[in-house]
Amino acid sequence: MKRRFFAAVILSLLVVIFLPSLSAQKGPAKLSPLEDLGKRLFFDKNLSSPAGQDCTACHGPKVGFTGQDEHINKVGGVYEGAVKGRFGNRKPPAAAYAGDSPKLQRDEDGNFVGGMFWDGRATGETLGDPLAEQALGPFMNPLEQNMPDKKSIILAVRKSDYASLFEKVWGSGSLDADKDVDGTYVRIGRAIAAYERSAEVNPFNSKFDDFWRAATANGLKVESINDSNAAGFKNLGLADAELRGLVLFNTKGMCSNCHVLTAANDKPPVFTDYTYDNLGIPENPENPFFGQEKKYNPDGKTWVDRGLGGTLDSVAKYQPFAAENMGKYKIPTLRNVDLRPSPGFVKAFMHNGYFKNLKDIVHFYNTRDKAGISWPPPEIAANVNKTETGNLGLARDEENAIVEFIKTLSDRR
Ligand code: HEC
Ligand code: HEC
Repeated sequence: MKRRFFAAVILSLLVVIFLPSLSAQKGPAKLSPLEDLGKRLFFDKNLSSPAGQDCTACHGPKVGFTGQDEHINKVGGVYEGAVKGRFGNRKPPAAAYAGDSPKLQRDEDGNFVGGMFWDGRATGETLGDPLAEQALGPFMNPLEQNMPDKKSIILAVRKSDYASLFEKVWGSGSLDADKDVDGTYVRIGRAIAAYERSAEVNPFNSKFDDFWRAATANGLKVESINDSNAAGFKNLGLADAELRGLVLFNTKGMCSNCHVLTAANDKPPVFTDYTYDNLGIPENPENPFFGQEKKYNPDGKTWVDRGLGGTLDSVAKYQPFAAENMGKYKIPTLRNVDLRPSPGFVKAFMHNGYFKNLKDIVHFYNTRDKAGISWPPPEIAANVNKTETGNLGLARDEENAIVEFIKTLSDRR
């Protein structure tokens, strides 16, 4: 007993001595105080009830800030909240490379663009920033971090070892839990959003990024790559098979119609234009939400995920557009879709985690509507995009080349 106690004392001493020097060399040094505060909140397991769940429970860095529990990914792909047995209804999308999504709005063509979540319901209308607005959702969601109210979240932050950092960033008195509960809570959301937008979360340092910078420096436009100009992009950092995949991604595969290659804000592309589509993804029968208690899922087994249509249905000014948007989901970034802790590690894809690997996804895009091939029916049959997806005429090796290309989108750690 005693010996173990002393070992523990010595160990903690070592940690105290060495930790500051370690963390000084690592990521945090590059973060601004506001971003650092956001990071502390993102990784704080005391902001849940019961304690133990932070944002990384569903947005783990080692898989690109999405679900990092392989057992869950293999089945429903939907994560359990802080309270045992309570599950949400969708797969966590990446919390990285998401920060440029504008406020939810109708563009000039009548298409919806922007907002946060698969269904855009964190519109950005309240705070002017969808990402900050989103960050305030999980804490009080009974199916996620399950905190009772804003005040208890603020009190937990006041007790934390980064409370002084909070006041350093936002000013003294800014961590108020009585007179300005709403203001304090918003500051929490804005700090988290700052971290989610930081260079630590969005390093843009994948193999593709090196290639994109090299091509751009040579006066080449990656978004215009096709069969006839592809030779000019050789030897800029992508292997020939990956380059071929990129060409197909931008031509026959039509992927870039939605996962766009257009750069924004002088940064390489993030592979989404933040619009919405229904791909006709089949229902995932293993979604644990179907068996969720009545209080959270009154529809039980007959529950249908309505996507963007559900959001629009609940906003008076958008209600007329709800029907034509049922079953549509926000186009996700493709960055880090292949980032995993080990090669065989299983990840879940799409809003309901139906797909478990990238090859199946490309095969689905290629053959969903092809005669003689049968996929399970779509979760919602209305509004399925049949002009850009479903029957692409890709040969098997072309499908594989696209997968090879997508694998170049993983950040280096
Ligand atoms: C229990 C799992 C869980 C926890 C904990 C959790 N999330 Fe999420 N997160 C999800 C799911 C599921 C979605 C998608 C929900 C939807 O679309 O309806 C999501 C969506 C998001 C998105 C939207 C991304 C986009 O492109 O629309 C961001 C950003 C995000 N979460 C950040 C956070 C932050 C910050 C925290 C901590 C304060 C957090 N999440 C805690 C499961 C979780
Ligand atoms: C018409 C627009 C559109 C086209 C074209 C398109 N996608 Fe998508 N993609 C989406 C949408 C929308 C989703 C999410 C759908 C859902 O969850 O129901 C998605 C999801 C994905 C995902 C899963 C990402 C995740 O985090 O779960 C991958 C991988 C992907 N697409 C790759 C591709 C590839 C490769 C192509 C070309 C063969 C392609 N996409 C073409 C709109 C599109």
